[in-house]
Amino acid sequence: MASVESPRLLGRSGLDVSPVALGCWPIAGVSTLGTNAVDSIATIQACFDVGINLLDTAHVYGPCGESESLIGQAIEGRRDEVVIATKGGVHYEGNVMVNDARPETLRAECEESLRRLRTDRVELYYLHSPDGTTLIEDSAGAICDLIESGKVRAAGASNCRLEQLQTFHEVCPLSAVQLPYNMLQRGIEKQTIPWCQSQGIAVVVYWVLMKGLLAGKLPRDHRFEQGDSRQEYPMFQGEEWHKNQDLLDELREIAAAGRMSVAQLVTAWTIARPGVTVALCGAKRPYQITESAAALQVNLTDEQLAAVEIALAARGAAVTNRHFE
Ligand SMILES: NC(=O)c1ccc[n+]([C@@H]2O[C@H](COP(=O)([O-])OP(=O)(O)OC[C@H]3O[C@@H](n4cnc5c(N)ncnc54)[C@H](OP(=O)(O)O)[C@@H]3O)[C@@H](O)[C@H]2O)c1
Repeated sequence: MASVESPRLLGRSGLDVSPVALGCWPIAGVSTLGTNAVDSIATIQACFDVGINLLDTAHVYGPCGESESLIGQAIEGRRDEVVIATKGGVHYEGNVMVNDARPETLRAECEESLRRLRTDRVELYYLHSPDGTTLIEDSAGAICDLIESGKVRAAGASNCRLEQLQTFHEVCPLSAVQLPYNMLQRGIEKQTIPWCQSQGIAVVVYWVLMKGLLAGKLPRDHRFEQGDSRQEYPMFQGEEWHKNQDLLDELREIAAAGRMSVAQLVTAWTIARPGVTVALCGAKRPYQITESAAALQVNLTDEQLAAVEIALAARGAAVTNRHFE
């Protein structure tokens, strides 16, 4: 039986975090349809009731930092009850996302994030993504400086290859890495997770629900509305879509037999994976994060885990647009 210890240590930060965290990209309202401030704030506040203490956001979550600003409003008066993780190195210029991981940009973005979040420090600050030009050492050095200044408690790095993580870690010891990982995207099991385990670095994973696909509620004949960005991802297209729906049929059976929802099964499976510290689950409505957080109450049996592996083996390798090992 896989046991869910809760809470878990966030690397060298000394902070305890819930193994399920709220992903605050959907509430930015950029690629998710039907968001509004009332539901977004209620979604963040639902975390207090369902055992989630980690909120994941970024400077670039919304052209005007909508995600960080909503968090600032939602946690007013309860700041000390949450661990805030934000990221710098990608920002909006008009309606365009720009990847700029230069030290001066990271410093300026961090200041702006703190203002939007209505706080004087964040617990975890990630390099959102290397920009391909700035040396990773320089981006890491800037985050080290932010730690020394007291604005940031611990360092993280996202969307980095293993060599980049290793270089970053030499300059600025990492507490967490953030990468894509879910039942259909398991590349980081090969190298990155074992390395993080060897270094005591927390592994925080995104797209656990594969943007809602693995919540299991989109029917096979689902028609995406115009503007729903999911239709641009290979997993939501053509033969891949049907293979994923076949997998979901299997997962629905396993979940139903265990009296849980598919989102709960998928999230519980994720946080039971060796070396995975935190599963980020995005949501725009309170019921969604409540459903994912219910995974904190689930200890999957060896039989259930084996049934999932059989279903995944039958599904075969999936086509993904973001691959890390
Ligand atoms: N570091 C990076 O570069 C990076 C990249 C991507 C994500 N992230 C982080 O990871 C988080 C998670 O990724 P994500 O938000 O893109 O996707 P996700 O967690 O895989 O999926 C979230 C979406 O699934 C649907 N959903 C959630 N719970 C549901 C439920 N109970 N029933 C039905 N549908 C449900 C919702 O979509 P609908 O309601 O619209 O159907 C929700 O917006 C982000 O919010 C962000 O914090 C980081």
